[in-house]
Amino acid sequence: MLDALSRRLFLTLADSATLRRTVGRYGMRGPRSFARRFIGGRDVDEAIGAARSLEQRGLLHTFNYLGEHVRSLDAAEQATLAYITVIETVRLAGLSCSLSVKLTQLGLEIAPDTCVAGLRRILQAAAGERCFVRVDMESSGLVDPTLEVVETLWREGAHNVGVVLQSALRRADTDLERVNRLGIRVRLVKGAYKEAADVAYPSKRDVDDAFVRLMRVLLAKGTGPAFATHDPRMIDRTCAEATAAHVPPNQFEFQMLYGVRRDLQASLRSQGYAVRVYLPFGADWFPYFMRRLAERPANALFVLRSLLYEQLGDQRTFGGSDRIGPE
Ligand code: FDA
Repeated sequence: MLDALSRRLFLTLADSATLRRTVGRYGMRGPRSFARRFIGGRDVDEAIGAARSLEQRGLLHTFNYLGEHVRSLDAAEQATLAYITVIETVRLAGLSCSLSVKLTQLGLEIAPDTCVAGLRRILQAAAGERCFVRVDMESSGLVDPTLEVVETLWREGAHNVGVVLQSALRRADTDLERVNRLGIRVRLVKGAYKEAADVAYPSKRDVDDAFVRLMRVLLAKGTGPAFATHDPRMIDRTCAEATAAHVPPNQFEFQMLYGVRRDLQASLRSQGYAVRVYLPFGADWFPYFMRRLAERPANALFVLRSLLYEQLGDQRTFGGSDRIGPE
């Protein structure tokens, strides 16, 4: 009950422009600042440093240039160019390339044609570098336009694009059939947005049951599926189902967020599973960060503690633990 309330509170705060401006000025200052646990860097160079250290630990990564809901064509163009620059910078750094992109950052809500054209340019630049581009899924009202953009570009031959489906949404089973028919690669998540009960399951149990149901379909009929969760129960069920269905570990991957359950990331990797870490970077980190607090309110205590230590100039604990908050 308390968790559900704090989840709603953090998701509401995520939309606050004032808070975004105020907190945004402080969160990434200094190497121990509180947002750094979840954000890979202020710019692409810092993100590349973070990606390199993930690769050294045997982990894969996907770069996300933070930003969403742009309100001008200029901002959409800047985001498109930023992604094209990331592809080139990653190539020069000699790292493998995978991107995660939000379509509202490319102008989906203000100019859908500009958004399609922007994603097309990103996909073309990416194809030359054998780079895969995952389109993140945003709130439920954006699912139809997002799927339409992805399908349009897929039909044009851009087969380095994939999509995300959220088990919280009642429509996910139908959407999965639709994308499986085309062979589009899916990342399955539970869903990070505040949704109404007519479109999403209000109970966590139903969301988890749907995750398991969709996971089974993906293992049986999906193309290189990704299971993005930190939930040990979902991960165990996926491993068990894959073993029972004789799907080898190189046919799918687990994905987790940067800075979350690093212990679990390492343990899955040591068991031979592919683990990809979602690596966000950039200045517009506030809404992303608030969604992470909503997922796990105990993380707010971690943030408060690190703020306190920053004020006191104390060097202890920040970033030291592999878990955020008590499990
Ligand atoms: P859930 O929230 O059910 O929690 C289960 C357990 O996981 C917790 O008890 C705890 O152990 C651990 N845990 C979960 N979150 C944690 C956190 N922040 N800190 C510490 N421990 C935590 N969503 C979306 O709507 N669209 C998208 O495109 C994406 N993309 C995406 C990519 C990747 C790589 C990941 C991992 C996640 C997303 N998400 C997403 C977010 C997703 O929908 C979901 O909100 C979070 O992953 C949290 O749900 P879980 O399945 O991890 O566990």
